Amino acid sequence: MSVPEPFFIRPISKKGATDCCILLDRPAYNRRSQHTLSNIRSLHRSPLAQLIDGKSIAQEIRNEIRAEVADWVHTGHRPPQLTVVLVGDDPASASYVRGKQRAAEEVGIESTTLTPDPSISEHELVDLVEKLNRDPDVDGILVQLPLPPHINPTRIIATIDPDKDVDGFHPENAGRLMTGQKGFIPATPFGIMELLRRSNVSIESKECVVVGRSNIVGKPTALLLGGPTGNGTVTLCHRKTVNLASHTRRADILVVAVGKVNLITADMVKEGATVIDVGINRVPDPTRKRGYRLVGDVDFKNVEPKVARITPVPGGVGPMTIAMLLRNTLTAATRHAFA
Ligand code: GUN
Repeated sequence: MSVPEPFFIRPISKKGATDCCILLDRPAYNRRSQHTLSNIRSLHRSPLAQLIDGKSIAQEIRNEIRAEVADWVHTGHRPPQLTVVLVGDDPASASYVRGKQRAAEEVGIESTTLTPDPSISEHELVDLVEKLNRDPDVDGILVQLPLPPHINPTRIIATIDPDKDVDGFHPENAGRLMTGQKGFIPATPFGIMELLRRSNVSIESKECVVVGRSNIVGKPTALLLGGPTGNGTVTLCHRKTVNLASHTRRADILVVAVGKVNLITADMVKEGATVIDVGINRVPDPTRKRGYRLVGDVDFKNVEPKVARITPVPGGVGPMTIAMLLRNTLTAATRHAFA
């Protein structure tokens, strides 16, 4: 049982209040506003977790990038340039791309979105990417996924110049990450590491469990946590893992990136753990105008009281991905200038 951090008890003189209430000096408690005295005991037994606020951490990073871009331009360089290639008319992809473009502009990164005809052949798309590779005014290239079914994404990603691959999806960048060389780290794992660092979560010698082994989240996250930056001890779980709970229960740091609602329940986490929920799932919700709400892979309501820190969904890992894409684009620009 972890000991709750100290909190203050203050009487509230609020019209109509019949009981003494407490306000707690931790964001998670305050978020819940007021608790009656009769709840104090249960609060002691079940302190709420500190929320890792990805939205504000991402904003902090974007502010830093904006200042760095301004310095970069002030010292006589052209602004960093990001070219996004969007093929097809998937509304979700179009919306993501608009978000990336807006975020880039906000920090002073120039952004261009190319929208070739959806009937573009794989060969023509390879040609387009090669042209961007040769263009000295392009620092970062991002081909938005998914691509239409007639185009092989692996071939397209492999065509991007690894030094302009700000997504960090190119096999060369995956290899550089694995072998500890300078490259680009995919935005989500990079964002997870920043969330942990900026929340003062020490990884060194901690038991880290990553659930999900995708190339763009699970595998690179496991490498980062267990590599020389993290120095954690990592277990990578996946769909064939037997008795998942026996692994997750050992985790001081648990990262879940599967895409399955309520995959991680309260009995599967260790008290006092740090939980990073990468899942973004839609669940029907007739009370919402759009008819659904977003939830992660973790049963937030029941897991939160048991752990020390947790990322919410939305507002946790999600906002970090765009911030880290911007960071990679600025890095690409500075590396190109000094190459
Ligand atoms: N589609 C959804 N997320 C991403 C991303 O981070 N990069 C690319 N290229 N496509 C995506």
